[in-house]
Amino acid sequence: MATIKDIAAKVGVSVATVSNVLNDKPNVGSTVRRKVLRAAKELGYRPHRAAQAMRKGRTRTIGLVLPDLTNPFFPQLAQAVENKARNLGLLVCLIDSQDSAAGETDGLTLLAQHGVDGIIWCPVGPEIPSPIRTLDRPVVLIDRPRPGFPVVHSNYLMGGELLARHALEHGHCRVGLLSGPRNLESAQQRRNGFVGAFPERIEIAWEVRLGFDGNLARDARNALLHRAGATLIVAGNDLIAINAVRFLTRHGVRVPDDVSIVGFDDISWARIVTPGLTTIAQPLPAIGTRAVELLQEGMSGAALANRPTVFDVSLVQRDSVKSI
Ligand code: RIB
Repeated sequence: MATIKDIAAKVGVSVATVSNVLNDKPNVGSTVRRKVLRAAKELGYRPHRAAQAMRKGRTRTIGLVLPDLTNPFFPQLAQAVENKARNLGLLVCLIDSQDSAAGETDGLTLLAQHGVDGIIWCPVGPEIPSPIRTLDRPVVLIDRPRPGFPVVHSNYLMGGELLARHALEHGHCRVGLLSGPRNLESAQQRRNGFVGAFPERIEIAWEVRLGFDGNLARDARNALLHRAGATLIVAGNDLIAINAVRFLTRHGVRVPDDVSIVGFDDISWARIVTPGLTTIAQPLPAIGTRAVELLQEGMSGAALANRPTVFDVSLVQRDSVKSI
């Protein structure tokens, strides 16, 4: 691998001059600067990040903390973040907090010990872990808002309203809710968006709360089998919806012929299950890109406003809803 000494020898200048050019120091003439940069490119020079970190106290590494990598939503989100980070020359250290406050605290502590320059974080719950409170680096939330932090997420209210409109357009006036966790704003906002869109025209027959991992607790399984006249099931995310379809199918209930189902996220599985899942697509590339841009601004010294950046969502119509 080419070194600074190789560049200096090729151009015929001192190592100090090469270092000044590569570190954007102002005290080098434009001709020499151009020769040094051309030589660095021709030699395939790549800066030694660890040595830079020692010198500058910056690692050009960011942490990304996500709740559950077994849910396809989060690897898709991680891909968006990593693609943008690499474009900016940033290395991403990925932490799976395994949907637990303890896992989240352990992962954040490790990131702080490794001296990351900033953190993009999707919280597992309402707590603010101690490593976040003591971290002297910028933190940007992604997907799930918390007071006092900049955050990038989808317009969940809009998603709930789009699903409610879709329900009415297909004649569904009595629905059952398999909602996500009550303590997650992302779950609450989409649920409230649906319930609040047409309260006089859509009746909520029943509601069960579940985790976003999609596991169907007993009360959810009972509600699916009895349904109390609900013709549409509104699931808090695609994993819940897909598990509900599998459960109903195993019990001889046909989707959508006997009951319709919608989800939220548009994970890759939503289009390969049968029937294809009608759901809400979250713009993950835009969300991931913007989160990295905000973090980069924070790492460059800008004061980040503690407000949300919210992206519109869209309805993806497939085959899990029947007109009645
Ligand atoms: O499926 C996981 C859910 O958690 C997604 O809907 C996402 O918005 C996150 O909050």
